[in-house]
Amino acid sequence: MTTIVGISGSLRKASFNAMLLRAAAESTPATASLEIVSIRDIPLYDGDIEAAGMPEAVRVLKDKIADADGLLLVTPEYNNSIPGVFKNAIDWLSRPSSDIARVFGNRPVALMGATPGRGGTLLAQTAWLQVLRTLGTRPWFGPRMAVSSANSEFDATGRLSSDKTRAALEQFMAGFVQFIEQSRRG
Ligand code: FNR
Repeated sequence: MTTIVGISGSLRKASFNAMLLRAAAESTPATASLEIVSIRDIPLYDGDIEAAGMPEAVRVLKDKIADADGLLLVTPEYNNSIPGVFKNAIDWLSRPSSDIARVFGNRPVALMGATPGRGGTLLAQTAWLQVLRTLGTRPWFGPRMAVSSANSEFDATGRLSSDKTRAALEQFMAGFVQFIEQSRRG
């Protein structure tokens, strides 16, 4: 079984990115499982906190990613870039730097995002590439999964209402799982 850890970069209860992540979990092929994890308990990065001991939430999340076969980042876009809350979480997960290879090294990573705007989070997704390169991950460059006008893509219960988007999501997750499986084979 291929295992994927999925993180939404929004803490909002009614987050479109959290909705997209849940839809991605439902769209994951049967040969894989997607575990949704939260960054809510991760504090603001502070080197003094780190020196006093790695926060439990950071330690647990690092181990979950290290144990998984792939990582899915579902990113909002703020001011045409990465939301600080999400970047802060990944920055914590990259500490200490001696542990980056264990957590991120060669790890297949996919990006997707949702916005009520028209740009589909593409600028935020592009900004993430610098970070993913620095952490030595193996980003998947399959088709883009960029949900624009998200307010009309999900129904009142937070489920995807667009068949077209659901089909694209199923295709995306199938492609990512295939990429992970190929990466594992070498
Ligand atoms: C935004 N939003 C936004 N949207 C976008 O498509 N491009 C952008 O540059 C920005 N910039 C931006 C800055 C800030 C500070 C906020 C709070 C919001 C709108 C954003 O896409 C919207 O709030 C989404 O609903 C956020 O994602 P969640 O919380 O729904 O997952």
